[in-house]
Amino acid sequence: MVLSVATSRRFLLSVLLVAAPLSGCNFKEEKDQDDDADQVTVDPSAPVTFAEIYSKILQPSCHGCHSVGGGNEGGVNLESYSAVKEQLVAIRLSTVDSTRMPKGDILSANLRALLGAWIEQGAPE
Ligand code: HEC
Repeated sequence: MVLSVATSRRFLLSVLLVAAPLSGCNFKEEKDQDDDADQVTVDPSAPVTFAEIYSKILQPSCHGCHSVGGGNEGGVNLESYSAVKEQLVAIRLSTVDSTRMPKGDILSANLRALLGAWIEQGAPE
């Protein structure tokens, strides 16, 4: 009787010793996700211009494929304001609502939010 109580205490202690560091790991994982660069800090009501979309998104992430020099892949050219306006719905579906574009890459959550805000604002020039 005495022996079995001692054994179960030892068992309980070892469970605690194993569980404590594990829960510490879980906590760290959550924390890492929280201060990830993926956090959206874009204010959707702040006015966004085409120039900003062009220099931050289209030129660095799209023109490699969607320009005359890049071969207008998929028959899509995104070099001028009017060409981009024609593709707005497809751009929102492929790049804001999903991460299908840019092909082979992924825009940061902030850049996707910026693009979404610009489209919501009526895609001003
Ligand atoms: C590495 C090449 C590549 C890059 C970079 C790229 N695209 Fe594409 N895109 C394609 C190809 C190829 C297609 C044709 C359809 C397919 O293969 O998915 C396409 C098709 C599209 C289409 C037509 C509709 C559709 O969804 O298929 C849109 C709109 C589009 N891309 C937007 C973008 C935007 C916006 C970016 C930048 C954020 C971008 N793409 C970056 C290769 C690329």
